[in-house]
Amino acid sequence: MSSVSLKGVSKTYAGVTALRPIDLEIPQGEFLTLLGPSGCGKTTTLRLIAGFIEPSTGRILFGGDDVTDLPPQKREIGMVFQDYALFPHMTIGDNIGFALAERGMPKVEIAKRVKELLELIRLPSVENRYPTQLSGGQQQRVAVARAVAHSPRVLLMDEPLGALDLKLREAMQNEISAIHRTLKITTVYVTHDQTEAMSMSDRIAVMNDGIIEQMGTAKEIYERPTTRFVADFVGQINLLDGAAHGTDNGLLAVSVAGAILRVPDTGASGTVSIGVRPEQMSLIAAGVPVPAGHNAIAGIVRSRMFAGNRIRLEIDAGTAKPIAVEAHPNTPTVEPGASVRAVWKPEHSVLLTR
Ligand SMILES: Nc1ncnc2c1ncn2[C@@H]1O[C@H](COP(=O)(O)OP(=O)(O)OP(=O)(O)O)[C@@H](O)[C@H]1O
Ligand SMILES: [Mg+2]
Repeated sequence: MSSVSLKGVSKTYAGVTALRPIDLEIPQGEFLTLLGPSGCGKTTTLRLIAGFIEPSTGRILFGGDDVTDLPPQKREIGMVFQDYALFPHMTIGDNIGFALAERGMPKVEIAKRVKELLELIRLPSVENRYPTQLSGGQQQRVAVARAVAHSPRVLLMDEPLGALDLKLREAMQNEISAIHRTLKITTVYVTHDQTEAMSMSDRIAVMNDGIIEQMGTAKEIYERPTTRFVADFVGQINLLDGAAHGTDNGLLAVSVAGAILRVPDTGASGTVSIGVRPEQMSLIAAGVPVPAGHNAIAGIVRSRMFAGNRIRLEIDAGTAKPIAVEAHPNTPTVEPGASVRAVWKPEHSVLLTR
């Protein structure tokens, strides 16, 4: 396995810019996820790393070796697609052993390796079946085994769980994470599902419109988004637009819908947004004093929705969109129409300028 570096790599298809020049360093053994909406350039990035398409600019390196001019079959990659792409006329054993047979590995050794891989994907007894005789989830486990059989330098997966239903997808996320922990192959994984990205990845690159907007661990991206796009795409967030007024004690004062709110200062000025996750806010009744050092914004409860493990409330507070607050189901009942204040600590919000 290898580290992967993209240096100034871009891709333009007949006048359409799919990927603007990006730099990406993926350390050996890392599980990196490319996360972003449809059309943002995830598949393009993966196909460039695989060698199925050529970059318009830039170089691609595996473990320091420049592979930009190598065809896919010389790059020693493993690939898993959304639609499994198993060979229908071959048994599961032959599917998994395919890359090994192509490389001229002796039959006994292939048989041994196939057995090991079937153990790894916890399907020890399906070797002589055909793909149509397996469920979708089982076929996708076989596709992963086939992709890693020849111990590739890099494993590339493009929305591999996209065709599976939610429960199965969650089970498969665990399977793939477990396989990665065992084999430690450098992995680039593509998804547009933020929950999937957060649960599986060492790091996430959030993509938008052909660029990487932010790169970091799931926790960094969720707690410290650096752009409005990232804040809004990963999880749910209230974006409160306002005007910066100057600092005091390391906090920037921002006026939002008639309230003065404080947020950790980043030196920004002018028009800014404050991002606050719904679960970081709590509600107090209108007459109750605001806890010391907290931000508060007054409003009227617009709706209240019970969602099992939490209660979701919407507050009309004169902001562009109603403020979303998530409360524990044991919190006292607040009915629509009630006057309340949403309160939170300044450090539980982020300042966003673009
Ligand atoms: N062969 C092609 N010719 C022209 N334009 C292309 C080609 N392949 C992709 N594009 C364009 O490049 C952009 C990025 O496409 P890409 O397939 O990388 O997106 P994606 O992030 O994988 O999206 P999705 O989540 O829908 O799979 C899109 O605007 C797409 O229309
Ligand atoms: Mg795609």
